[in-house]
Amino acid sequence: MKLSHLVGGTAVALGAVAVRDLTQKKHAILRNFPVIGHARYLLEEVGPELRQYIVTGNDEERPFSRDQRRWVYASAKQENNYFGFGTDADVEHTQGRAYIKHRTFADRLPDDHDPLATLPAAKVLGGPRGRAKAFRPGSVVNVSAMSFGSLSGPAITALDLGAAKAGAMHNTGEGGLSPYHRNGADLVLQLGTAYFGCRDEHGNFSLPRLKEVVDSAPVKAIEIKLSQGAKPGLGGLLPAAKITDEIASIRGIPQDRDCASPSRHTAFDGVDSMLDFVEMLAAETGLPVGIKSAVGDMGFWLELADQMESRERGVDFITVDGGEGGTGAAPLIFTDSVSLPFRMGFSRVFGTFAELGLTDEVTFIGSGKLGLPENAVVAFALGVDMINVAREAMMSIGCIQSQRCHSDKCPTGVATQKPWLVRGLDPFDKADRCAAYLITLRKELMKVSAAVGVAHPSLITPHDVEIMNGDYESRTLAGIYGYKDDWGQLGPALVDDITTVLRTKATFDEKPTA
Ligand SMILES: Cc1cc2nc3c(=O)[nH]c(=O)nc-3n(C[C@H](O)[C@H](O)[C@H](O)COP(=O)(O)O)c2cc1C
Ligand code: SF4
Repeated sequence: MKLSHLVGGTAVALGAVAVRDLTQKKHAILRNFPVIGHARYLLEEVGPELRQYIVTGNDEERPFSRDQRRWVYASAKQENNYFGFGTDADVEHTQGRAYIKHRTFADRLPDDHDPLATLPAAKVLGGPRGRAKAFRPGSVVNVSAMSFGSLSGPAITALDLGAAKAGAMHNTGEGGLSPYHRNGADLVLQLGTAYFGCRDEHGNFSLPRLKEVVDSAPVKAIEIKLSQGAKPGLGGLLPAAKITDEIASIRGIPQDRDCASPSRHTAFDGVDSMLDFVEMLAAETGLPVGIKSAVGDMGFWLELADQMESRERGVDFITVDGGEGGTGAAPLIFTDSVSLPFRMGFSRVFGTFAELGLTDEVTFIGSGKLGLPENAVVAFALGVDMINVAREAMMSIGCIQSQRCHSDKCPTGVATQKPWLVRGLDPFDKADRCAAYLITLRKELMKVSAAVGVAHPSLITPHDVEIMNGDYESRTLAGIYGYKDDWGQLGPALVDDITTVLRTKATFDEKPTA
């Protein structure tokens, strides 16, 4: 064959591949990088064999290891998410590794849970404080706060639609409630220090604006963001150049100047005034109101629990974000070293409320790499009632952990506003993946609960999980985190409630008790 024929034939073949890549909607990478994008899939395919000899192991990459990402991708695509040949973890020597203790015999074992059934929370959000719009969340796994602006419109659409399909809630993030959040999911409206979307022309909180926003969408709860694990105590700056018409109108900010988010709130300046603000929001909207915070100095938490002890005022939920949590962009010192990791921070907060007998009256939510079954089980065992997932949900819609979110050059169209990159992300295809991921995580939580011999992940106790502590030794979560007696366990009324709810909704009881 002549060389010119060979070159011509190759060009035609590559042209055909490029056309197919540009028009298909399943893979954002191929839509954005036709032809050359295939190299990524090829490397993914032969990666395990190559790495076995020359590069890193399955558990080495961070923030999420290859095994963890493979589990999310396979779950999202509804592919086989099992692993063959047994664990490749160094099980007796890996400090901090969790071991869940199954039971051989148990009174009540769930059979295979209907995969499409939601997994309701064990507590009624806002119930203990009598909020007019208190409700039992239908899913213990929900989508964490991520704003339109840090994520693209199609990414927010995919997450919102995915959450709706999975019966989960979607947190708006502090950037305001955008049109992309209006695809059907129940919403948690987040109020950050800049009160985007709910502020007056001076940047102060505006109750009339908040009420308008709440009335315009299926907002089920309000979350006041005090801080975030990846960058606690840090304000933000959105440069004027990045403020599009759309972002300006959603956030309620002018377009002609930089927009600074203060590091602290202006609507309150301490625990006392914060609780007044919480009660005012709850009274005006009827919604449950909570806070989100990373954990550092414990003074704030001690004072909060102390002021809530009289039951006159109080938050309905507390979201504890671990220092290992994600962000669009932050200085390294903050992402690496400011605020406690989730398990340490959450257990201190939970213990503070447990000392005063308040834990059954507050819904505890956790975030910080909890969108993986093992980490989620540890969180439930420590007393979390629900988990929020951010980066794992991003991975379910195509994020490949290239860690360029801060550069506006996200190759998968998830964390960028550049139209040519955003184009690659088909929100409808990715919504199905997000839903499949959320449903699979819930399903695995139910399977682990069954192995432990309980009907719901909230019934796993801190005695059911041990953590590797040095070589050949492990201790229960209760022992490591100083939990007393029955801390981390629901009170009898809540246990009765959730078992009844599950029995009537999912009918998975093997041995009817009545
Ligand atoms: C791109 C991105 C944007 C985020 N934006 C917000 C935000 O607006 N408000 C907030 O409270 N947390 C925000 N977070 C933090 C997440 O909601 C979550 O608390 C944290 O990433 C831990 O969850 P994960 O480990 O599942 O990612 C953001 C995280 C990411 C990755
Ligand atoms: S830049 Fe990389 S890590 Fe960030 S969302 Fe995009 S693919 Fe994921």
